[in-house]
Parts: sequence; C-alpha cells; structure tokens
Amino acid sequence: MNTSNTFFGHPIGLRTLFLTEMWERMSYYGMRALLVLYMTGAVTGFNPGLGWSQVESQAIYGIYSGMVYFMVVPGGWIADNILGHQKAVLIGALIIALGHFTLAIPIEQTFFLGLIFVVLGTGLLKGNISTIVGQLYEGQDDKRDSGYTIFYMSINIGSTLGFLICSYLGEKIGWHWGFGAAGIGMAFGVIQYIKHRHLLGDAGMHPNEMPDDKRKKLTTYLKVSLVGMFMVIGAGLFGFFTIDPRFFAEQFAYFLTIIAGLYFVYLFLFAGLNAAERKNLILLFLLFVGAAAFWSGFDQSAGSLNIFARDYTDLSIVGYEIPVGWLQFANPVIVVLFAPIFAGIWAQLARKNLDPSLPIKFAIGLLFMALSFLIMIVAVNIALESSPVGMQWLLLTYLFQTWGELALSPIGLSAFSRYGPKRYMGQMFGLWFLASAIGGVLAGLLGGEALDGGLETISPVFEFMIQYYLVIAVALIALSFVIKTAKD
Ligand code: PHE
Repeated sequence: MNTSNTFFGHPIGLRTLFLTEMWERMSYYGMRALLVLYMTGAVTGFNPGLGWSQVESQAIYGIYSGMVYFMVVPGGWIADNILGHQKAVLIGALIIALGHFTLAIPIEQTFFLGLIFVVLGTGLLKGNISTIVGQLYEGQDDKRDSGYTIFYMSINIGSTLGFLICSYLGEKIGWHWGFGAAGIGMAFGVIQYIKHRHLLGDAGMHPNEMPDDKRKKLTTYLKVSLVGMFMVIGAGLFGFFTIDPRFFAEQFAYFLTIIAGLYFVYLFLFAGLNAAERKNLILLFLLFVGAAAFWSGFDQSAGSLNIFARDYTDLSIVGYEIPVGWLQFANPVIVVLFAPIFAGIWAQLARKNLDPSLPIKFAIGLLFMALSFLIMIVAVNIALESSPVGMQWLLLTYLFQTWGELALSPIGLSAFSRYGPKRYMGQMFGLWFLASAIGGVLAGLLGGEALDGGLETISPVFEFMIQYYLVIAVALIALSFVIKTAKD
C-alpha cells in the first residue's frame, strides 16, 4: 500500500476534511463551553461576564445552537446550486474564524455580531463537509461507512482540544482569550484546507448541473436574501428593535417544528409515495422526534449542566481548581473509548441475528438519556442538602449521555438516507440537522426554566424530560414490532 497517498487506507482527501472538521469542532465546542458562563458571569471582579439572567442566557444559547444547525439547510442549498461544496466549506471556515475573532474583541457590542458570523459560517461548512466525505467514495460504498467513522473521530479530537484550550484560557485568563483561541484554531483549519484542498480532487468541486440563466437567477435570489438578512441584522445590532430572547426562542422552536411538520405532511400526502414508503415515513417521523428530543438533553452539557458544574460542583483535583468546561471532556473521551466497543457489540449481536433494529437503537439512546437525567436528579437532591457535590455525578451523567449518543447518532444519518423516499435523498441530510436544530433551541428553553429558581427548579424540568424520553422510547419500541423490515 502506498501510504503517502492514503489516509488509514482511505482516500487522502479524507485527511484534508478530517483536519478541517477537527479545527472547526475545536473552535465550535471550545467557544460554546464558554458561552453561558460568559453571559451569566458576574459583571465585576476578575474576568467580568455580562451579568445576564439564566433564562435570557440559556435562551440565547438555545437560539444560537438551533440557528447553527438550521443554517445547514440553506448552506446545503447554496453549495448544491451555486458554490459547490468545496468552495462553500472554504467560505464557511473563513466566516467562522471571523466570528470567533469578533468575539475576541473585549467589548459587549460585538458579541451578537460574532455569534451571527459563527452561525452563518457553520451553516456553510458543517453539512457540506460531511457531503464531501461521502463523495470521496463514489463507487466504493463498502468503505464509505468506515470513512464516516474516522471522520466522526475528528469531531471528538477537535472538541477535546477545544475544551482543553478555550476553557482554560477563557476561564482562567479572560473570556476573550478563549474566544480568540477558537479563532486561531479555525484559522489553522483554514490554512490547512487551502494547502491540501487539491487532494479532494473532484469531490464537491462542482454545483449541480443547470442552465446558466437558471443559476444566474438563483444567484440573484441568494444575493437579494443576503442583503435583506443583513439589513435586518444591522437594524437589530444598532438597536432599531429589541428582541426578548426567551420569546424569540419559543417562536423559533415553533417555526422549526412547523417547517419539519409541514415537510413530513407534504411527503406523506403529495410526494406520490406507495404504502411501504409511507410506512417508512412514519418510522422516520418518530426517529426525527426521537433525535430532536435526544439533542434537547444532550445540548444541556454547555447549558444547564455547565452551570451546575460551575455553581454546585466541587471542581478541585489535588488542590487545583479545574476549568468548568473541562468536565465536558467526558463526552469525546468516552466516544473514542466506547465507539469500538459499541461497534463490537452490534457485530456480535448481528452474528446471532439479534442486531437491534433502528427504532430499538434509537429507543436505547433515549433510555440512556433518561437515565442520565435521573442521575442528575440524585445529584440535585444531594446538592440541596449540601453543595457543592463531587464531580462523579456529572461524569456519570455524561457517561450515560455518551452511550446514548453512540447508540443513536452514528446510525441516524444513514437511517434517514435508507428510509427516506429515494427521490428526496438530498433533503434527508437537512432533515437530520433540523432535528439537531430543534433539540438545540429546546435545550436553551428547558435549561432556562431549570435554572430560573436556582437548585429548586431543576428537578421538575429534568423529570419532565425523563417522561418524554420514556414516552418516545416506548412508541419507538412499539413501532418496531409493526415495521418489521426496519433493520439497519
Ligand atoms: N458531536 C456531533 C457533532 O458535533 C453532534 C452532532 C450530531 C451535531 C448531529 C449535529 C448533528 O458533529
């Protein structure tokens, strides 16, 4: 094997994408871990924060998380029709770096502008880079899945680096140093991508074929929308209107839910599906609900659980007070340790013909999520007696959440491509990210509610979440008996 032209036996272009995604996720998770700490931090003292309320800050965090993944949908459209995926990733990466550098400016006025840049850049990068991964494997489908597995590792190495560097600098030196470090990380990603982009060859190079005048028309639509969008953003930033974050987050959650709902109804009624395809669509709908619910818990890590770590957890290890964000290491580290074990378990079960069907795997993911919040309720009860509590509670919570992630997330996308109607394959990617978007905004709303009254209000919210995890898990298990063919 000529190792200089491959990457772990895969096309060498995978290395380019691996490193780009690694730096992008470093900047994304590194900055995200600081976000609510900065917003809710006291305005005086060492490293002053913005002093905003929990409800407002968590709502802003939710809007941000929801927008990041919602923008993947237009980002995909722009790449498909106008830019091509390679160029979209480049422009996205540049805008993300610009966003983090904007956040690094130590004044309050540029905060939202920075977040908006990161949202727009991520919309162009995140979905499209995953699309290019798939395109590296034209004609060798058997390798594609393991290519995605390697790619998934870059996400976790990136987030580990992000927590390590940004949380340390942001919390121990100054918030804006942490944001700046995220920008420098993304800048490394940009330089690397520019240098090694040629290794991608033709993958993701060209947008869809279409007549020139049609492309021109679409480009004009895009430009007009961008101008409109920036006028609205500009008016908001200059204070021509103000937004109540919680109200906005609620409306945004409805908006995303309605869009997703309408899309499912459209597919069900008007896409000319046969009975089998309709049955699969019902399955897909439940998987969608399951995924959105799952991420609404998972995204608490940088939201309410981050605050629980700061306010109610003893963070000292042999006399050193670790940065709050370091507890989030648990997730990527556990992914890397357990991903092979999970793959092994599924393979073992498959040999005995006992490999769980897709809805069962989703249900397992949700049950682990429910368990993780049960652990948190125990921790909250202990903290009510005497705070702070030990770190083991959050670590155990993250362990179960990550097991849930390993059951649900790696197969989620392939589930959508397998059970989605064939003619709508391209849009299934967007649908999968839409579930993350809904999860993100719900995470902010629920987190705000949980923390509104300090420790006392946490448990009722987490109990409510456990209930909906159980309901959806039971529905998925029941459906798996009805739709017998649904093996992944
Ligand atoms: N850790 C995953 C990532 O950052 C979480 C995720 C899954 C995000 C699916 C979006 C969609 O990629």
